[in-house]
Amino acid sequence: MGERPRGQGRFLPHLLTVDPTLHWANPPGGTSGRDSRPSFTSTPGPYTGPVPIVTHLHGGHNTEESDGYAEAWYLPRAKNVPRKFATGGTYYAEFREKFAEAQGLQWQPGTATFQYANRQRASTLWFHDHALGITRLNVYAGPVGFYLLRGGDSDLPSGTLPGPAPAPGDLAGTRYHEIPLAVQDRSFTTDGSLFYPTSRAFFDGYAGPYIPTTDVSPIWNPEFFANTIVVNGRTWPKLDVEPRRYRLRLLNGCNTRLLILKIAASATARPAEAALPLWQIGNDGGFLPTPVRLERLLLANAERADVIVDFTGVPEGTELYLINEGADAPFGRGEPGVDFPVADPATTGQVMKFVVGPLRSKDTSVPPDRLTLPRITPLGSPSVTRRLSLSDVNTRFTPPVPANTTVETALGTVDAAGNPVVLGWADPLTENPRLGATETWELYNFSPDAHPIHIHEVQFQVVDRQPFGGQPVPPESRERGFKDTVLAYSGEITRVKALFDLPGRYVWHCHMLEHEDNEMMRPFQVGGARK
Ligand code: C2O
Ligand code: CU
Repeated sequence: MGERPRGQGRFLPHLLTVDPTLHWANPPGGTSGRDSRPSFTSTPGPYTGPVPIVTHLHGGHNTEESDGYAEAWYLPRAKNVPRKFATGGTYYAEFREKFAEAQGLQWQPGTATFQYANRQRASTLWFHDHALGITRLNVYAGPVGFYLLRGGDSDLPSGTLPGPAPAPGDLAGTRYHEIPLAVQDRSFTTDGSLFYPTSRAFFDGYAGPYIPTTDVSPIWNPEFFANTIVVNGRTWPKLDVEPRRYRLRLLNGCNTRLLILKIAASATARPAEAALPLWQIGNDGGFLPTPVRLERLLLANAERADVIVDFTGVPEGTELYLINEGADAPFGRGEPGVDFPVADPATTGQVMKFVVGPLRSKDTSVPPDRLTLPRITPLGSPSVTRRLSLSDVNTRFTPPVPANTTVETALGTVDAAGNPVVLGWADPLTENPRLGATETWELYNFSPDAHPIHIHEVQFQVVDRQPFGGQPVPPESRERGFKDTVLAYSGEITRVKALFDLPGRYVWHCHMLEHEDNEMMRPFQVGGARK
């Protein structure tokens, strides 16, 4: 844990150890001055100043000022934030002006007002911090929430689905049949505080100094898989249920871990038979075209699933378990236990328990196999196709760092010969869709891992996936409709199609937060370029 500086007053330094050597939300004076790309001549200590944040409504269809651009971060308003911390990042001033200009928006130190138009399909959104190079720590530390959008043509009439949902802030009630469940992995120290690695040695044993000629950061880890599962912040919780249908809004809120969820009769038996199916009715961007019956549900980082679980007829006293068969490391496609390792059934293989009690009132919701879901209007033909790349960039590591000290990931474009062009966050803009254009983005994954790719501003349609040198295959049935995050498998082209209908500066990135925080994020600009 980072040590709190003594006598520095009333702002809270970060709970976790901040690595100032990344390209990050670097408050002036915090490490190296005005630019957010720090330079050091020796190993710097962790940053101990006030915590930069900027909130992003994930899946939201919002203007750039309200989207949570990674460099539009700001600092707490605490009176005694030292003067040297008083201004923000490279884009801070520019965004501050835009905030002020935008109708009804206010901007003052320590405060930002975001406007959410909610002009989009009924869907399961969530919000979290998005500050450059520190998102993994800010999300891991806790502040993340659901944002459920309801109503309109893209929703079902009330009473069709199991409900009601808990009122905001009501955690005590038990008579709810629609339940948002944020699934995350966390590790704890023996005193109960959050554990997150404080040095790169945790991942690959490299505990050497910062080397300015490489990108080896002394604190940042390329991945982090914690050793317990928490649901809505509680470790392995229990939910008392009635023998009736429940609507579960699932979110994979893990930093790096991919989840494969299943309802099983035993918490620990593997392989586990599914005791009840999961009926998926919605994903990131709202309802699917038709309900999909699943034995198990693959949920990549930041993906959401709206599912119905039918406990009708399950005898009172029965205990059922939501388990995770997800690999610790997500590789390519495949079967848990065959093509990639299964999560430890004693720890991260368990998510939560359901205990079936008596039925207290009649269930009048429509059974999932008889549901007719709202009509979906598909996007038109794309006018532009872009080739984009996902790569590992371990070649930048040079002695004395061991050759197997690897794994920085990056985004970029693809050249005419079909090779990746690796680009960093600060490289010149390469994606500039015309305002109102529908485009196909082809995500070429040259790295050995699968990466969940998120594009801001839009809800896209997954077109297909094509193994390099192979034939295109259609998306999974649970990926139909609209999404904002898609798992791009290794050695494949994943095609998505989107309508870019709001002008301004946004980002696309890998949603493994450790990757996102170290250059696996790129800006894009819709419409006339701001320099
Ligand atoms: Cu959930 Cu760009 O983030
Ligand atoms: Cu990634």
